[in-house]
Parts: sequence; C-alpha cells; structure tokens
Amino acid sequence: MGIEAWESMNIFRSYSPGLLMPQAFASPQFFCIDKGLKSKYNPLYVYFPGKIPREVFMPNNILDLIRARRSTRVFQDRAVLRQDLETLLEAAVWAPSGGNNQSWLFTAIQNKDILLKLNELVRQGFQTYIPDDDYPGKQQVKIHSQREGFNFYYHAPVLIIASNKPNYENAMADCSLALENIFLTAESLGLGSCYVNQLHWLQNDPGLRDFLFTLGIPREHRICNSAVIGYTVKPSPVPARKENTVRIVE
Ligand SMILES: Cc1cc2nc3c(=O)[nH]c(=O)nc-3n(C[C@H](O)[C@H](O)[C@H](O)COP(=O)(O)O)c2cc1C
Repeated sequence: MGIEAWESMNIFRSYSPGLLMPQAFASPQFFCIDKGLKSKYNPLYVYFPGKIPREVFMPNNILDLIRARRSTRVFQDRAVLRQDLETLLEAAVWAPSGGNNQSWLFTAIQNKDILLKLNELVRQGFQTYIPDDDYPGKQQVKIHSQREGFNFYYHAPVLIIASNKPNYENAMADCSLALENIFLTAESLGLGSCYVNQLHWLQNDPGLRDFLFTLGIPREHRICNSAVIGYTVKPSPVPARKENTVRIVE
C-alpha cells in the first residue's frame, strides 16, 4: 500500500473509526479512500480497485441503520471482539455534550465473574428497593428480580455503564446521546444492544456503589444508564411507530 493510501486511510479513520465500513479494513481488496465530496453528509468515498466508487456516508444509510436498530434481550454466549468494543467506546465519546463537558465515564465490563457479582448485587438491591414513581418497568423488574435465573443484563457478554459527574444537569442527556451512538455503532458492527436501567435505579444502594467503586466508578458519580451488547440470537420484534408524534410548522 502506497503512502497516499495510508494517508487517506488515516483521514477515514479520523472521520469514522471503523464505524461505517469496518469490513473495508479487513479486506485485502481495500485500496484507497478519498475525501472531497461537496455535501456535508457525504464527506467520504471508499474506492475498491476495479469497482465504481461507492458512497458510504449517505443520509439514507444512516436512516436505514437507525431503523434497523432494535433492543436485543437474548444474546449468544460469545465474547465481543476487543476491537469492536473499542469502536463502541470511541463512538460514545464522540457524542455531543452540554458545553462540551465530556465529563462522562464509560466503564465496559466483559468479565463474567464481575457481571455475575453485579447481578447478585442488583438482585439483592431490588429486595429492599421501593419504586419512587409509577413507571411500570420498575415494578416489573422488582418482581422479576425475585425469580430464579434473574439476570438484569440478559446474559450479554458486555455491559457498558455510563456515569457522569454530580451537580451537572446535562449528565443524563450527555450519557443518553452517547448510548445511542453505542447502539447505532453496535448495529453497524452486526451486534445487538439494549438500554438497561437497573443500575440507574439502584445507584444509591450502598453495597452496589461499593462494588462499582472497586471497578473505578467514582462514588459521587451519577449512574446515568447502561448498555448491554452482544451477538443477537434472533431478530427482535419491530414496534410500530405511534402516529401524530411529529409536526412540521411552516
Ligand atoms: C430510557 C430508556 C430506558 C430503558 N430501559 C430498559 C430496561 O431497563 N430494560 C430493557 O430491557 N429495555 C429498556 N429500554 C428499551 C426499550 O424497552 C425499547 O427501546 C423499546 O421497547 C422500543 O424497542 P426498540 O428499542 O427495539 O425500538 C429502555 C429504553 C429507554 C430509552
């Protein structure tokens, strides 16, 4: 590969770290990437030798990706590649943040023993947890937590906990935007994902906080949300879109 191709590749990497066409890097066919399209939506083309230049950053592709993402709750017992995990975390930290705070922390856990210990603490935490609002999900999970085989992370091989500094009103918004980046990137890498709220609900549980502290999550951090990631077993149902939820005012 000539120097030009390398430079082009670095341009591509800096724009989209494996996000759009990870297979391009794996392919020996990979030849050259160029920049220079006019539209802000189309900053890049990927060139394959002997083929017509292929657009990879079209708005329709992004919409397809957004529509294809589903919450996955059944996972294969297969680890996520380290490279893919790093790509997910990179997608997270490229999310927008209020005032460019970037005060978040994403803690990815792949260790099965740690995940099981966390599950036990969540199960215990729900025994004394009193839901503080009418959100039915909280009541359901409390009931589920008393059942045999309860697993709040759906036995996924990866759990990513998003936490943020206290006394920062955009903490949740920033982490949620980062999580959506993770979900969409996961979809682009052929991985399933799901938002899980249990650690957020139990964030004031002292035993859980002690354990999270041992994983490097500061005690004062708000636990905003978490994502589970892994290989899907079967497609998830597609919930229909509700009507009358958008308006265009001209
Ligand atoms: C704020 C928020 C909290 C959620 N909490 C959970 C959760 O604790 N457990 C879970 O299985 N799914 C959770 N979900 C996923 C939703 O149930 C899911 O997005 C919804 O049913 C629509 O399905 P879809 O993601 O496949 O479009 C949550 C989603 C959001 C946005």
